[in-house]
Amino acid sequence: MIAIRRATVDDAQEIAAVHITAWQETYPGIVPDEFLKNLSMERRTERWTASLSDPADLYHRAIVAEMDGQVVGFSNYGPPQEKDSGFDGELYAIYILKSVQGCGIGRMLMTEAAKGLLELGLNSMLVWVLRENVHERGFYERMGGAYVHEKSIVIGGKELVEVAYGWRDLSRWRVG
Ligand SMILES: CC(C)(COP(=O)(O)OP(=O)(O)OC[C@H]1O[C@@H](n2cnc3c(N)ncnc32)[C@H](O)[C@@H]1OP(=O)(O)O)[C@@H](O)C(=O)NCCC(=O)NCCS
Repeated sequence: MIAIRRATVDDAQEIAAVHITAWQETYPGIVPDEFLKNLSMERRTERWTASLSDPADLYHRAIVAEMDGQVVGFSNYGPPQEKDSGFDGELYAIYILKSVQGCGIGRMLMTEAAKGLLELGLNSMLVWVLRENVHERGFYERMGGAYVHEKSIVIGGKELVEVAYGWRDLSRWRVG
């Protein structure tokens, strides 16, 4: 039984746990092992607590997916992190535990984020994904995202490339 709902500050710890586990499941061979090993539950929980408790924080709008009362995935969204992105909204992140991927949760979390952006009056959406994360790119393409551009980013001392996918008109977002 999957429940999708708006996250509150009480979810900070469970979101942090999914965030870290999903990084460790998704990025081996892409992000340096040392960086993945040192992800701190305490620091990540502090960051989520700060974001979710502050309506002025860019990252405070989050959606969680629960299975049997436990958070198994989340997404968060809001205005773009970079002003000149050419899009008026952004999906900052979407992570789902490997054990429950492929059950439709990704689509539900993206749909809620798209609806949330529309409610804010933001009509388009951008998302950044590591170029080497081929699985995630396939998902965004399946969801109708179009390649926009690329930029370089450094994670754990390693230079990587991020690709942006965009949806120009969220009013055309299809739920099914
Ligand atoms: C990518 C991810 C969000 C997808 O979520 P999911 O719950 O597994 O996806 P869903 O089951 O909702 O799939 C929705 C649709 O996309 C399709 N799809 C999913 N992954 C796909 C892929 N890699 N390539 C092509 N299509 C894909 C599904 O077949 C499904 O299509 P359908 O609705 O027409 O049947 C999830 O697997 C994940 O969290 N991955 C790791 C985290 C990550 O890389 N995050 C990026 C940081 S921004």
